[in-house]
Amino acid sequence: MKLPLTFLLVAASILAAAIDRCDCKVVQFIFGDSLSDVGNNQYLSRSLAKANLPWYGIDFGDGLPNGRYTNGRTVADIIGDAMGLPRPPAFLDPSLTDDVILKNGVNYASGGGGILNETGSLFIQRLCFYKQIELFQATQDVVRAKVGGRAADKFFQSARYVVALGSNDFINNYLMPIYGDSYKYNDQSFISYLVNTLGAQLKLLHSLGARELMVFGLGPMGCIPLQLVLSSTGGCQERVNNLALSFNQATSKLVDGLSKTLPNASFRFGHAYDVVNDVISNPGKYGFSNSNSPCCSFGRIRPALTCVPLSKLCKDRSKYFFWDEYHPSDTANQIIAKELIKKFGFAAINQTEAPSAAPEPAVAPSSDG
Ligand SMILES: *[C@@H]1O[C@H](CO)[C@@H](O)[C@H](O)[C@H]1NC(C)=O
Ligand SMILES: *[C@@H]1O[C@H](CO)[C@@H](O)[C@H](O)[C@H]1NC(C)=O
Ligand SMILES: *[C@@H]1O[C@H](CO)[C@@H](O)[C@H](O)[C@H]1NC(C)=O
Repeated sequence: MKLPLTFLLVAASILAAAIDRCDCKVVQFIFGDSLSDVGNNQYLSRSLAKANLPWYGIDFGDGLPNGRYTNGRTVADIIGDAMGLPRPPAFLDPSLTDDVILKNGVNYASGGGGILNETGSLFIQRLCFYKQIELFQATQDVVRAKVGGRAADKFFQSARYVVALGSNDFINNYLMPIYGDSYKYNDQSFISYLVNTLGAQLKLLHSLGARELMVFGLGPMGCIPLQLVLSSTGGCQERVNNLALSFNQATSKLVDGLSKTLPNASFRFGHAYDVVNDVISNPGKYGFSNSNSPCCSFGRIRPALTCVPLSKLCKDRSKYFFWDEYHPSDTANQIIAKELIKKFGFAAINQTEAPSAAPEPAVAPSSDG
């Protein structure tokens, strides 16, 4: 049967109107490194940075490795939970679908990744921040095709964004003599380069719809167990800590500036540097018995760069600040998250009151309600 063109056009516009709405929830999109990775690197077949062996994940769910570089939850897990938001799955998780994206958001964080493209090249495969933003754009195309442009814009503008990168740009780039950046720059010029790059990335995210965005600052990286082992005195590396402080200061200024100048932007910066520094100096005050060596370690062989099945675990995992040479334990992440929540001041989300795109459909959608 041949239908008149006018009929087809009307039908198409009705169809477009029908799909250009969505009982969209507020979800999160997370950009980060191993501190926020929830499994992306497990699907990068050639990556040398993976948390896919015991005893990673021992205090999370079924206790099997899940891609998180800690024994339990990440800082972003804990903050998202406190805000009443679902935990977004890893972008590379094969079970990710358009419905899952609309319901839970996406996490692009990748162990070894940095603000700079060249950071972490020793790990062979990792998703740098620019790559993570490309994958976010691909996600936007999927959502637009599913719900229509107007509803998609609303969905992405109501979402919460987390950006938590920077440690690797120092530890797995600038501070390692095998990387070109270590001799091309000095402390000051490297931090300018890093923070300018981050500024361009945050503006790009804003142009893609990000409005409520949190940037996590760095902790005292010179005090992670790996750095203590590498230091001649066995103490924290002051130079490395000073780099973290300078990065935090410059990034705080950047984020405040963007929040004032970009339309409708509510961009916040927060760090837990001071609190972590205090815990490391006074572990007992916070209920820790150890704040200078990893709970999961390979006997006396230090540094053991990762936690492996042959490693020995500390007796009480809740009393160790560090889980492995680089990453805090679940209990430590709780302290960091609490401090960040205080700094950000974002209120918990009430999904019942969450703004939904376009008029509510008269009939509940058939999928997940
Ligand atoms: C960084 O990587 C992205 C792709 O992931 C690429 O589009 C961009 O041109 C790169 N930038 C630089 C400065 O190399
Ligand atoms: C800013 O918010 C107002 C009110 O919600 C909206 O009309 C406007 O389009 C927004 N502008 C941008 C650039 O998001
Ligand atoms: C969320 O908002 C709804 C509607 O205003 C209200 O009935 C409900 O009690 C709120 N829930 C929480 C946890 O505040």
